[in-house]
Amino acid sequence: MILLVTGGAGFIGSNFVKHRLQTTDDKMIILDSLTYAGVLDNLKEYLNDSNLLIPKTQDDLLSVTKQIGERLSYAVPDGSAELKRLTSKLEGFNPNYVESDLYDMVKDILKKDKVVFVVANIIDSKTDQALMRLSDVVVHFAAESHVDRSIFDADAFIKTNVYGTYTLLEAAKNVSNLKKFIHISTDEVYGHAIGKSFKEADPLNPRNPYSSAKAAVDRMAYAYHQTYGIPIVIARPSNNFGSNQYPEKLIPVMTIKALKNEPLPVYGDGRQERDWLYVEDTARAIDLLIKSGKIGEAYNIAGNNERENISIVRKILEITGRSEKLIDHVKDRPGHDVRYSIDDSKIKDLGWVQDRDFDKQFEYTVNWYIQNQNWWEKILNKDQEYKAFMKAWYEER
Ligand SMILES: NC(=O)c1ccc[n+]([C@@H]2O[C@H](COP(=O)([O-])OP(=O)(O)OC[C@H]3O[C@@H](n4cnc5c(N)ncnc54)[C@H](O)[C@@H]3O)[C@@H](O)[C@H]2O)c1
Repeated sequence: MILLVTGGAGFIGSNFVKHRLQTTDDKMIILDSLTYAGVLDNLKEYLNDSNLLIPKTQDDLLSVTKQIGERLSYAVPDGSAELKRLTSKLEGFNPNYVESDLYDMVKDILKKDKVVFVVANIIDSKTDQALMRLSDVVVHFAAESHVDRSIFDADAFIKTNVYGTYTLLEAAKNVSNLKKFIHISTDEVYGHAIGKSFKEADPLNPRNPYSSAKAAVDRMAYAYHQTYGIPIVIARPSNNFGSNQYPEKLIPVMTIKALKNEPLPVYGDGRQERDWLYVEDTARAIDLLIKSGKIGEAYNIAGNNERENISIVRKILEITGRSEKLIDHVKDRPGHDVRYSIDDSKIKDLGWVQDRDFDKQFEYTVNWYIQNQNWWEKILNKDQEYKAFMKAWYEER
């Protein structure tokens, strides 16, 4: 089977790609524009001089980045900072230029290799269509994924999550070979869960710009199934944790700050609850949806591990051997959802079994960041915009 995986250099996408390559005979076409959150190192063991494809000209490369960050107040407005960052992300790799027709090139590479990585933006409909014509299944992860950034500036969230997904769905209308299009949504589309766990048929009531953009395209994907017969299956996973998560989300941020003996910024009283799902379980649940997910249906993927943020932070301090005195309660995130909770009986009816021990996976994850300091230090040292965002966001708090 050939899979087209968008956002495959990100946290969940790269874990999914590795899981699939280790457990199946699939071939993978990865489509990723390498925003700040895309990290080629996540997949470096699978990349070589011929299967990492980038546009040939500077202008084309700039067009990969131009949608993102151009309006962000902490970024350089003409997109040149993005281009610089993209170029620096390719350091240490020897990419191959797209010289001829992309479809033919990818087809040729897949004759001898299991992976092709195409540096491109999902907003480019020609690329989407060329790659979809070669694929049996699409797994669409690519998104702007950080709620805090969406509160700061939602522009890139509309461009990628809404317009980018729409562009992919349009491309799917023009191909006849797709067996499934797995759209990765989120448990956040339901809004916060006060006194209940949401089922798939419950109304969507998103409460921040990120989750509202995700909710819009969750329903857009459904509409493309109803209207045009696109073989959509929607996955709504809870909060993922695991290795290779960009160091702006709760677990990596707090672990890194603890290791550096810096204050750990906890929003408000820290009593907000999240349902934690191990990233490899997400990958296994997506396997199941590829195999048995019913077309036109949405499926919750729960972790069944609801924890208050403050208890996650305390656990990190315990594992890293740091004092709770490092906890710094800061101004809460506006519109902060107090609890996420979903009911996963529907996917269980497909045969889903999630039997991992949360404490063990959590400890493994924190230790991964302790042992892979090079991975996150490279990001922290190189990414000027990351520093600018963290400064701008936390200065306000
Ligand atoms: N992380 C979670 O806890 C979680 C939970 C539920 C659902 N989700 C969803 O899962 C998906 C993956 O999340 P993640 O945490 O791995 O995200 P991430 O931010 O780590 O990775 C996103 C990836 O998408 C790529 N990308 C962004 N814009 C793009 C564009 N316009 N064209 C091509 N590639 C682009 C980035 O370069 C990056 O590699 C997202 O759709 C997110 O909404 C995430």
